[in-house]
Amino acid sequence: MCGPRSSAGISRRLVNALLGAGLAGVVSGFAGAVLAYLWPSGRAGGGTDLLVAPSGPVDPAGIGPGESVVGRCRAGKVLVIRSQGELVGLTATCTHLGCTVTWNAASRQVECPCHGAAFDLRGQVLGGPAREPLALLQVTVEQGAIQVRPSAGD
Ligand code: FES
Repeated sequence: MCGPRSSAGISRRLVNALLGAGLAGVVSGFAGAVLAYLWPSGRAGGGTDLLVAPSGPVDPAGIGPGESVVGRCRAGKVLVIRSQGELVGLTATCTHLGCTVTWNAASRQVECPCHGAAFDLRGQVLGGPAREPLALLQVTVEQGAIQVRPSAGD
């Protein structure tokens, strides 16, 4: 009778140890997820006003007349267009279903490739299924880099 009792004791200890290890894993995984969410992003542009592309900070000199670039910063995905010598910034996420909009220099419109929404240079809806405008953003060049902030009216 000693055998089964001893075996049951080991099994109980083993089960308790496994449950404890599992609980510790769940708790540490949850804590890790919370810390990862709260920890500031170390990637440039992730939590700052600096506009970055996959290759690094966007060089404003690289945006020629009528050209545009899509980058990321604290404001999210941003479309920057050089129009009449000025840099214009708009949120690049279509207000219809969230596709990334692009600048069409020929039509001088911001267009969504998904369902055809069109916006003007101030983000106002010109056509298509989108009903809300794109947010107009404040774009400045500071120390050779593009900084994007909400417009003064926002
Ligand atoms: Fe842009 Fe539908 S997501 S028009």
